[in-house]
Amino acid sequence: MEKENMDEVTNLISRRGIIIPSFEIYGELAGFYDYGPIGFRIKNKIKQFWRDYFIKSLGNLEVETTIVGYEKVYQASGHIKTFTDPILKCTKCGSTYRADKLLEEIFEKEKKLDLAKSVGHMNITELQRLINEYTVVCPKCKGTFSDITPFNLMMKTDIGPTGGITGYLRPETAQGIFVDFPEIYKTYNFKLPIGIGQEGKVFRNEISPRQMLIRMREFSQMELEYFFNPKNLDKLVINNIEIDETLFDKKLNMLTREDQEKGAEASKISIADAIKNNIIPNKLFAYLLYKESIFLEKLGIDSQIIRYRQLEPDELPHYSKGNIDLEIIINGKYEEVAGNAYRTDFDLKSHSNLSGKEISVLDNNEKITPHVIEVSFGLDRLFWSIITNSIYKDEKRSWGITILSDIIQPYKYSVYPLQKDEKLIKKAIEIYNHLNGEGFEVLYNSSGSIGKRYAKSDEMGIGKSITIDYQTLEDETVTVRDIMDGIQERVKIDEITK
Ligand code: GLY
Repeated sequence: MEKENMDEVTNLISRRGIIIPSFEIYGELAGFYDYGPIGFRIKNKIKQFWRDYFIKSLGNLEVETTIVGYEKVYQASGHIKTFTDPILKCTKCGSTYRADKLLEEIFEKEKKLDLAKSVGHMNITELQRLINEYTVVCPKCKGTFSDITPFNLMMKTDIGPTGGITGYLRPETAQGIFVDFPEIYKTYNFKLPIGIGQEGKVFRNEISPRQMLIRMREFSQMELEYFFNPKNLDKLVINNIEIDETLFDKKLNMLTREDQEKGAEASKISIADAIKNNIIPNKLFAYLLYKESIFLEKLGIDSQIIRYRQLEPDELPHYSKGNIDLEIIINGKYEEVAGNAYRTDFDLKSHSNLSGKEISVLDNNEKITPHVIEVSFGLDRLFWSIITNSIYKDEKRSWGITILSDIIQPYKYSVYPLQKDEKLIKKAIEIYNHLNGEGFEVLYNSSGSIGKRYAKSDEMGIGKSITIDYQTLEDETVTVRDIMDGIQERVKIDEITK
């Protein structure tokens, strides 16, 4: 089967209510999207799998911290000072643009590809020079722009009825984990290394939200902060098990800094070699990249569309001593889906300094401030990378076929009576209740022709459709149709629940 193009993908997710632009009846507000019932199920399953895989199986902890954050938190973290994008404002119509993105689009259109690539690395002065040199004007009204200024992406709010206390909607879930770290340590008295994770909503006041779920103003993260002693990494012990370093023979498709400087493509490098060549900062980081690659395999993402990109020094977030982005091809272009960062002790030390509270743990009888490796997934981007790469077309079917890994299918089965006949409906409901009672997730549907219902199942990514027909009433058999080939097999009802 061949993959559907992006227009068809967008049609399908809209036709099946998988993703819905928020507030649509009032007109769309850029950067906000809702999940319809099927999208919601798939998203939740991705989340659950992350939880099973990165929290439960590694013996890690999970927390839920507040969305509204106290100003001091973001003073300490550096977000108030540095979490900015360069903004351009039209002096005529008032439209705003993110300067680097606008230049990138212009240069891509003009086939000045080297310039298009380099704008993401430029500071405000360099971007301003290009705006002046190429006399860039507002694409909407041809008005001139005022000078580029830094725009802070955090959404501000007043706390309390009289205001006066400034709050920020969190731009990452990580800070809640860092701020709570001393309390969690006091209560659980864990040994390093330990991961503390959090899944939840975050907010960024994007200047120009784009590409549906790629750049949104409200989105979800699944973040894991792994606390460790950097002096204690010779032998990597996770969840009381010593990690077998032959795992590091695994090869990943990596785009190193050197590749990027040379304009080369990504190539397969073993994790062990990447540590040796200082591409991966340490063994814990390496282990988490290994785990991430398996996580993606299990979610059914083809390794051919994945690369790990080592960020260049000028791209590193202010807290990082080394980042490797997980990028997945979406609509023909690599997009960041997870950021893997060596945050050092930056955050814990900053919170300790500003609050005046000591933040330390005892490791091998030594008091230390732990260092942190972060694995930060954009949940919506992960969802989007899966959906956009999972919709296929088949010559024999005039609709889309959404092929998802078993782990994240929205329902295990759909159950259909062949026709609107009381006897068939009664039997179908009985079978639906039976499967539900056995713990399967089942969708029942009796409206529309059976062909339309099969199309619906295929587009929603339901692996198997069970049809109740007249033979069912005689011999307790049903037909089970598989999404992969659309072929039906007749089986005993009992066989399904075995
Ligand atoms: N916590 C990393 C990020 O939000 O980018």
